[in-house]
Amino acid sequence: MKKARIVGTGSYVPEKVLTNHDLEKFLDTSDEWITSRTGIRERHVAAEGENTSDLATEAARRAMDMAGIGAEEIDLILVGTITGDFPWPATACLVQDNLGACNAAAFDISAACSGFVFALDAGVNYIKAGAAQNVLVIGAEILTRVVDWEDRNTCVLFGDGAGAVVLQGQEGESGVLSTHLHSDGSYWELLYQAGFGTRIQPTEQGIKDRIPYLKMQGNEVFKMAVRSLSDVAVEALETNGFVSSDIDMFIPHQANRRILEATAKRLKLKDEQVYINVDRFGNTSGASIPLALDEANRAGKIAEGDLLLFDAFGGGFTWASALVRW
Ligand code: UT7
Repeated sequence: MKKARIVGTGSYVPEKVLTNHDLEKFLDTSDEWITSRTGIRERHVAAEGENTSDLATEAARRAMDMAGIGAEEIDLILVGTITGDFPWPATACLVQDNLGACNAAAFDISAACSGFVFALDAGVNYIKAGAAQNVLVIGAEILTRVVDWEDRNTCVLFGDGAGAVVLQGQEGESGVLSTHLHSDGSYWELLYQAGFGTRIQPTEQGIKDRIPYLKMQGNEVFKMAVRSLSDVAVEALETNGFVSSDIDMFIPHQANRRILEATAKRLKLKDEQVYINVDRFGNTSGASIPLALDEANRAGKIAEGDLLLFDAFGGGFTWASALVRW
């Protein structure tokens, strides 16, 4: 059976950088608090008029360039996002239009910070089923437009960006070895954005009460994140007969440096096995793993035959892993 191999990676972040010191100017916070509690120093913020589909399209173009693949060769476009341009149509359709990928079906996957790994899983299974040969999998977000900029508990954490991979069906040892996905909807209220879905109608009072914006119970999310990220990583290793010392690069969702360090400790990973860039991008939700992957790839830090483990946790709750032989 063909494997789904990652043959190109790409990423894009908006130009504008917002540092912790910039936040100090309009928020009751400090660089010291943010850095010590989260490891975040700065994040990128989309410019006015710049939309999620724009970020996604640029990341996709870069991944396609690396893969040497034309738009008309793409069979499927999957975008993991919770901050699409519109409630509908899917951001994937807007990306398809931008790219001129006239032969591709396109749809979004909503699994919050796990969105990229959920989308990757779908792409892998289309390829394994013989239903697609070239799949563009993108994680793209503009979280800075849905956070409450009056809530210091949450707004300091997030940033904007996009990452993409081209998956291609190939024979051989390289490719995605396994994916594991989990969800538990009973935790939805610990991390969600209310509006405007069908439950909440846009009203002036609602906006004054800050109802439509992202809400999170950070402490609870923190504990569940560490446990779930560890469990689903172990599940991936055990399924494939590996141990954590076999991993060349562990690429977790970049939510908070303390979460990443606690997870790495539970998995007995050494510092040099763990890729961390949350300091420069903040939490970019579904974009964080492909953004980190592309950064590592372009820096020449990944060699053919390396074993990579992607590990994600997010609202829903959702959590997921993907083990990849490069
Ligand atoms: O992407 C997946 C989902 N998201 C996550 O994985 C995030 C998970 N949670 C976290 O990363 C952490 O819980 C936070 C970074 C959000 C918070 O860190 P914490 O160590 O759990 O802090 P805390 O919520 O217990 O807050 C401690 C104090 C509070 O003050 P009081 O009530 O003790 O006086 C907060 O009001 O820190 C205060 N605080 C701040 N102070 C300065 C909260 N945010 C800020 C801030 N600046 N930005």
